[in-house]
Amino acid sequence: MNLLAIESSCDETSAAIMVNGELRSNIVSTQLIHTQWGGVVPELASRAHQKSIIPVVHEALQKANINKNELNAIAFTRGPGLLGALLIGTSFAKALALSLDIPLIEVNHMEAHVLAHFIEDPKPSFPFLCLTVSGGHTQLVWVKSPLEMEVIGETQDDAVGEAFDKTAKLIGLPYPGGPMIDKLAKEGNPNRFPFPLGEMPGLDFSFSGIKTAILYFLQKEQKNNPQFIEENKADICASVQKTLIDMLLRKVKKAMKEKNCQQIAIAGGVAANSGLRNGIQELGAQQNWDVFIPAFSYCTDNAGMIAMAGHFKAEAGIFCGQDVSPLPRMAMK
Ligand code: KG4
Ligand code: ZN
Repeated sequence: MNLLAIESSCDETSAAIMVNGELRSNIVSTQLIHTQWGGVVPELASRAHQKSIIPVVHEALQKANINKNELNAIAFTRGPGLLGALLIGTSFAKALALSLDIPLIEVNHMEAHVLAHFIEDPKPSFPFLCLTVSGGHTQLVWVKSPLEMEVIGETQDDAVGEAFDKTAKLIGLPYPGGPMIDKLAKEGNPNRFPFPLGEMPGLDFSFSGIKTAILYFLQKEQKNNPQFIEENKADICASVQKTLIDMLLRKVKKAMKEKNCQQIAIAGGVAANSGLRNGIQELGAQQNWDVFIPAFSYCTDNAGMIAMAGHFKAEAGIFCGQDVSPLPRMAMK
């Protein structure tokens, strides 16, 4: 089974080849054009996908040493994501599948983030809990099988990745700010500036309050000292990062208890954060949990995870027709 997978939901154009469940190539082209605008510009993302998709697919095939005529199916991200961006990957996948006369597999991007855990060992066994944290989502997912997932908690406003990116913007760091905050936080004191953790009922999250608290805090401090941000950058980053991680881990602990679960996984772009990776390891050791953390390259958006999700669907004989269209707000099944 030679599977081509396409990911184009946001600002990464990516293609991967999976052969019988084994990932042979995973090419990611990150769109740099958005940096100068301080965030992803949907229109520019679509154009960049249009430009990169053929070279990226070509490279994925070449690296895997597979000819396009040897492909047996094509998996693609149907949603959630930016409509114009999803349209490029979806249309490309449909056209190529039609010309090669092979089946199509639609993939939910958020399910694929979770299933990235099955690309390499060690793999969790079912059921397990996954904290999926990205630029657009923050979810606690109860994973019953590769095809059966239930969102048991999620953010009611901003995603945690957005909180990282918006804080970075406030302190003058370029987009995407998450990795920059992570880097600076390593040299800072996480206990220097305490921010409120907020209180959300049940297993849901909220990150809009912390964003406002940071904004007011910085405005107040800058009134007394215009150099405040410059002089305290590392401590601000470390303190904000610690707060965001504490907010996440508090709910993880609660959900693990409710589900009486021993296996925790993290996924999504923010799972690349070193503070979160260390934090979940420490909590896991304390609680006697098995902790699953994907390689960095499978945390942020990539087609390897789309291939993995596509592989599970192909195994179950689940394909889609040529009448499929993207779903910007696609829900998990
Ligand atoms: O999963 P992803 O690549 O795209 C979405 O589906 O949204 O996640 C992107 C998000 C961005 O908000 C980015 O700032 C954040 O992941 N991110 C990080 C780190 N690396 C990526 N946030 C904190 N620390 C990092 N090291
Ligand atoms: Zn993502």
